[in-house]
Amino acid sequence: MQSAATTEKLIDNFGRHVNYVRISVTDRCDFRCVYCMSEDMTFVPRARILTLEELAQISTAFVELGVEKIRITGGEPLVRRNVVKLLGDIARLEGLRELTITTNGSQLPALANKIRDAGVRRLNISLDSLDHDLFRRLTRTGDLDTVLQGIEAARTAGFDKIKINAVILKNRNHHEVVPLVAFASERGMDISFIEEMPLGAIEEHDRAEAYYSSDEIRSDLEKRFTLTPTSETTGGPSRYFDVAETGTKVGFISPHSHNFCDTCNRVRLTAEGRLLLCLGQEHSVDLRHVVRSFPGDRDRLKDAIRQSMSIKPQGHDFDLTEKPIIFRHMSATGG
Ligand code: GTP
Ligand code: 5AD
Ligand code: SF4
Repeated sequence: MQSAATTEKLIDNFGRHVNYVRISVTDRCDFRCVYCMSEDMTFVPRARILTLEELAQISTAFVELGVEKIRITGGEPLVRRNVVKLLGDIARLEGLRELTITTNGSQLPALANKIRDAGVRRLNISLDSLDHDLFRRLTRTGDLDTVLQGIEAARTAGFDKIKINAVILKNRNHHEVVPLVAFASERGMDISFIEEMPLGAIEEHDRAEAYYSSDEIRSDLEKRFTLTPTSETTGGPSRYFDVAETGTKVGFISPHSHNFCDTCNRVRLTAEGRLLLCLGQEHSVDLRHVVRSFPGDRDRLKDAIRQSMSIKPQGHDFDLTEKPIIFRHMSATGG
């Protein structure tokens, strides 16, 4: 039976229903992907990071406000100590339909079974290249073989669905889109290609020069595969196409070429407890202040979340030719 609380909905000033929260459990990561981080990053001191208990309280408040989908992100979420306990606590929340994770895959050889047992059914794993050297250059510290073992561990653990994410950069990995689709589909996995977003200053490449649009990727793929648009949605920003030859799907996340802000259904919580109302803007509410000033006061927390809806902006203003106007890196936000 549904309780009265779960019939409530979070609606913003543009009539959009927010039913999806992305929660970053750490800004730390064992990789340093060139589009995500600068080479030497300063991470948030531990005392400013939400505790696992605070994360569970905030998740509970969101679910009581009608949120049905929670995605755990980072940094790399699986480097957070005891994250599996948090996953179990969130998965048990009544009213939550789906708990998912976005991971770089490096910890999956050890953790895939544990997170499946904790109640996670779907997993997104980042994989930008199948070439060892290029993978190392793009992630700076990552090891392709470990990630491939992680993907195998996840397949064996029996998740309902595993999706691969690949950020595509011109003249870096754009030539890999066909092999990446082949790799995913041979393993029964879907794959999404992502246009790089200008979050945080990076020094490794010029983002405008490295822009490779979803339409270019699609036309590269169409030389090998037959793509048919589908109306399927996971509640995320991907536009999906069926691949006739493989029976799997290819998605495109195209913040530049196909803006999806008008259907935005999500907000994000940074590891410091800042509730960000849009990935591409700074409008936010400090939920850490609320949970630390009024411990255990669920109503006050829910009120702060309800009120945040009035400042959710209409959309982002990403411009690859300008310096980034958003100074935080993707790792601070969780994507
Ligand atoms: P599902 O569709 O649920 O599988 O997930 P997803 O694609 O929304 O999530 P994932 O964590 O795999 O994110 C893939 C990419 O989409 C990341 O680069 C995110 O930053 C990006 N993304 C997710 N939500 C938004 C959004 O609201 N705005 C923008 N611009 N990008 C987003
Ligand atoms: N632009 C687009 N995607 C990014 N990601 C990290 N940084 C960026 C960026 N600047 C992706 C990762 C991962 C997801 C969480 O976000 O590759 O798939
Ligand atoms: Fe880490 Fe993901 Fe950022 Fe790469 S994109 S540095 S794996 S948080």
